[in-house]
Amino acid sequence: MKVLVVGGGGREHAIIRKLKENKTIEQIYAVPGNGGMYKDATPVNIGAKDIDAIVNFAKENEIDYAVVAPDDPLVLGCVNALEKVGIPSFGPRAEAAIIEGSKVFSKNLMKKYGIPTADYHVFSDAKEALEFIKTAPIPTVIKADGLALGKGVIIAFTREEAKEAINSVMNDKKFGSSGDNIVIEEFLQGPEVSVLAFTDGKTVKPMVSSMDHKRALDGDKGLNTGGMGTVAPNPYYTKEIADLCMETIFLPTIEAMNKEGRTFKGCLYFGLMLTENGPKVIEYNCRFGDPETQVVLPLLESDLLEIMQATTNGTLADCEVKFSDKNACCVIMASKGYPEKYENGFEIVIPEDIEKDVYVAGAKYDNGKIYSAGGRVLGVTDVNETLKGAIEGAYSKVEKIKFDNAFYRHDIGARALLATEEK
Ligand code: AMP
Ligand code: GLY
Repeated sequence: MKVLVVGGGGREHAIIRKLKENKTIEQIYAVPGNGGMYKDATPVNIGAKDIDAIVNFAKENEIDYAVVAPDDPLVLGCVNALEKVGIPSFGPRAEAAIIEGSKVFSKNLMKKYGIPTADYHVFSDAKEALEFIKTAPIPTVIKADGLALGKGVIIAFTREEAKEAINSVMNDKKFGSSGDNIVIEEFLQGPEVSVLAFTDGKTVKPMVSSMDHKRALDGDKGLNTGGMGTVAPNPYYTKEIADLCMETIFLPTIEAMNKEGRTFKGCLYFGLMLTENGPKVIEYNCRFGDPETQVVLPLLESDLLEIMQATTNGTLADCEVKFSDKNACCVIMASKGYPEKYENGFEIVIPEDIEKDVYVAGAKYDNGKIYSAGGRVLGVTDVNETLKGAIEGAYSKVEKIKFDNAFYRHDIGARALLATEEK
């Protein structure tokens, strides 16, 4: 079997590694992949947003199954286009991917179907938004409607900051047309949990929960990033909370999407906040999280390809989705300066015995060597009986990896560990 994976980051590397455990797969193409994946997949020099070229490549190379991992191609209809030429694919069609593609859509969906989320107002006019903010409770949260590389959320702690945020998103178009509409919402507090769930539009099978660390620096300081590290499971996410989320959030969301004629198939990511008033949805993503995938998939004991195909075929109810009860920690090694300016092109040296635990996010291949090529360069995962063991294991591997200008957080999992010890 020939499989094509669209995307090129650490998440895709983790998906590819897990797919490779299925012995019916002879070849995996990564579109575009990155230079650090060359031992696991064949890179194809086509951009992840170039849907026509992806479809042509898939046809010409007789791809049997495609996995579309990033938000952009999903929102642009990559799965629709592949299905049109008869290639079964993992991921939602565009009409369902809108759950991530438009925050206005997802907020209105939650309101209509009574799914718990922060109170909100939608604005298409900057003047009205600026007027509203004069009396709105502070802190407040301002979100660009469309995709913005994970940077479209601004938490304003003063009215002045809120004003600046509205101006930069709506008037200065910091995120382009993604900021034509904005959502201004209630500031929520509590531990955050990421839950990725497989669904075929009928059945929902949540994966092990996880915790992301979004800020660039230790102690949750610095700018927001794509994610600097993760642990799984998330100790705040108890069995009782999981049951409550299934009943009040997961199943109602799948049902709501069906009722809207937008059946969601693939991986639906629930970004949750466990507030004093119960779990609430902070955001939906229409895909696997990055770097959540780098801790969730290493704990998956069932066959990933079979599960993915079951989501496509509508047979997920009959498919085993089993996770180990171990713990995982992933530490991201980034380029100094990320998420702002950084330098690239430094040789990355990874000892052979830990290669299998390294998911490369941004690297170029040249003559048997790999060189840093991105903000987030790689993620290092350890799986262990205990959370403490997984954290120590991940950091001991990080110390063995060398490239100039590398930087990473030193406290990935610290907050989770505290919660475990408090229990
Ligand atoms: P997002 O890019 O949607 O994942 O949001 C980035 C981060 O902003 C989230 O992980 C939360 O930490 C924070 N955030 C988003 N919405 C809210 C909210 N309503 N209240 C408090 N924090 C929020
Ligand atoms: N780690 C957060 C995301 O993938 O959006």
